[in-house]
Amino acid sequence: MVVVLGIYQAAEAFHAGWTGDCDGCHAPSSLADGTRVGLSLTSSEMCLRCHSAAKPVDHQVATNPIPPPGIPPVSLTPGGDFAYLQKMYYWTDQEEGGSVSPGERHGHNIVAPAYGYAVDVTLAFAPGGSYPATGLSCISCHDPHGNYRLVDASGTIVRSGNPISDSGSYGTPPSATEAVGTYRMLAGKGYGTKSVDHTFQYDPPIAVAPRNYNRPEVNVDTRVVYGKGASEWCLNCHDGFASRTRGSGHMHAAGAELGGTIAGNYNRYVKTGDLGGNQSTAFTSLVPFQSGDMTGVQQLAALTTSLEGPRPEDKVTCLTCHRAHASAWNGMTRWNTKGSFLLVNSDYPGIDAPGKGGGRNAGGKTRAEYKKAMYDRDPSRFAAFQRSLCNKCHAKD
Ligand code: HEC
Ligand code: HEC
Ligand code: HEC
Ligand code: HEC
Ligand code: HEC
Ligand code: HEC
Repeated sequence: MVVVLGIYQAAEAFHAGWTGDCDGCHAPSSLADGTRVGLSLTSSEMCLRCHSAAKPVDHQVATNPIPPPGIPPVSLTPGGDFAYLQKMYYWTDQEEGGSVSPGERHGHNIVAPAYGYAVDVTLAFAPGGSYPATGLSCISCHDPHGNYRLVDASGTIVRSGNPISDSGSYGTPPSATEAVGTYRMLAGKGYGTKSVDHTFQYDPPIAVAPRNYNRPEVNVDTRVVYGKGASEWCLNCHDGFASRTRGSGHMHAAGAELGGTIAGNYNRYVKTGDLGGNQSTAFTSLVPFQSGDMTGVQQLAALTTSLEGPRPEDKVTCLTCHRAHASAWNGMTRWNTKGSFLLVNSDYPGIDAPGKGGGRNAGGKTRAEYKKAMYDRDPSRFAAFQRSLCNKCHAKD
């Protein structure tokens, strides 16, 4: 096992859980199209040289170049494809007339001019917080040098200490002498970048992803198992959402336990009108949850291949409803929370499918775009007139 892992790393890894070769980011370099850019790249541009591609695989989180209208971005990672930030969707609605879902509403607008990514002009600061949109980049959230590390099974994260032996994202446990990186090299307490005056208060979540995490979810869902701290980490920039006061906080609780009734709904819910499911097959990555306050990466890793639904002590998190990077929908949600139906007459809606619910249901997408936004799931997995996935927990349909 150790030998296999060694070969995997030598052949394919760059960061391997922490800092990669200094030259990979700091050497004078060229963009994908051959333009020489020297040392003048912004940090997001540095990352996108390796993290974007025309046909993204594995760690490539942005389709580049941006596909033309009617053609969807194709990276299918848990975080979502950044190319949605450059996709505009238009439609006509009987009540509202002409409507638009602009690119900047689809996620975290990382600033990377060489790749066409611009500052969010509507949200100047993180809602509920003070982080400026002008400073938002990959390194706002990921520590480029990957110095944060997990040192034990109880979830202790430190900035320096035992050397990092492997990525912390796939279930390799830390030992008494070796640490692993934090989940996705996410930054923790005390972190800030040079260009923004802002300091993180919370450590990253303990979580584990399967190695094969960028793939269509036709037959099996890609299950990231989120443990302790998934919602708290988002509060590093959206701190006001910790409050549940109506008006000032977010409209929905996060970090709250599901309890018996809601966990039971999740486990029984199959689709609109069908509450005949059971816990062993209940999971969907369209509505993930946090597994209690688990901190043991080996236990979390064991669940990545399970379809088991939640226990009462499991929690609703920000990532239950939102992706972390971008999605096809306003507010970076995992499914369309704006329309009445996710399926109309047994198929996904689309502006190219007359009579099958254009308007807000399709949200300006063709049927092919809609299917990709659902990570290629077959429509037969849902009810003929499927309603919002809020019902996975609330069963009000
Ligand atoms: C994955 C890309 C990446 C790799 C690999 C990387 N760096 Fe950096 N480095 C950055 C970025 C981005 C910044 C800008 C940080 C900021 O603006 O806060 C930076 C900033 C720095 C700085 C100045 C800021 C500071 O924190 O003092 C130094 C020094 C530095 N890097 C050294 C290194 C060394 C040495 C290595 C190799 C061990 C390395 N870097 C590897 C991306 C990288
Ligand atoms: C020279 C190419 C290269 C550059 C530049 C680069 N990466 Fe990566 N990155 C990779 C590769 C290859 C992987 C997958 C293997 C690995 O994790 O090392 C990866 C993986 C990752 C992961 C997942 C790691 C894990 O363990 O889960 C994150 C997060 C990441 N990169 C962020 C960044 C950020 C942020 C930057 C810019 C500051 C950046 N990368 C720059 C090549 C690169
Ligand atoms: C607002 C914070 C934030 C920003 C900005 C951000 N990331 Fe991430 N990233 C995350 C989180 C959180 C995850 C884990 C998502 C999950 O597992 O649900 C993640 C996951 C990843 C992964 C693993 C694949 C995936 O999508 O799940 C890679 C690679 C990565 N990020 C690279 C990048 C690069 C490159 C950039 C800039 C172009 C970037 N990130 C910008 C927070 C961020
Ligand atoms: C480093 C700071 C930072 C972190 C950490 C962060 N965000 Fe944000 N977020 C921002 C900023 C700045 C904006 C406004 C600019 C934008 O939307 O591009 C924003 C906007 C958003 C939006 C609105 C998107 C839209 O356009 O309607 C959502 C939803 C969101 N964040 C969710 C999250 C979630 C979920 C997490 C945790 C996984 C998270 N954020 C972590 C800084 C952050
Ligand atoms: C139960 C689902 C759910 C949970 C949990 C949830 N959100 Fe949201 N959030 C939504 C929906 C739905 C919207 C409205 C999306 C839209 O614009 O259409 C939204 C909107 C937002 C916005 C944009 C608000 C604005 O003023 O533009 C931000 C930022 C945000 N959420 C961050 C978070 C963060 C951070 C957490 C965790 C602390 C979180 N959300 C938890 C469903 C959820
Ligand atoms: C993963 C399960 C889950 C999903 C999905 C979910 N919720 Fe919830 N919801 C909860 C939990 C748990 C609570 C109770 C939180 C608390 O008060 O501690 C809650 C509470 C609520 C409440 C408040 C009820 C009250 O008594 O005050 C409303 C309204 C609500 N949710 C609406 C939504 C909407 C709308 C969506 C979809 C955008 C959604 N929920 C998706 C788990 C979920």
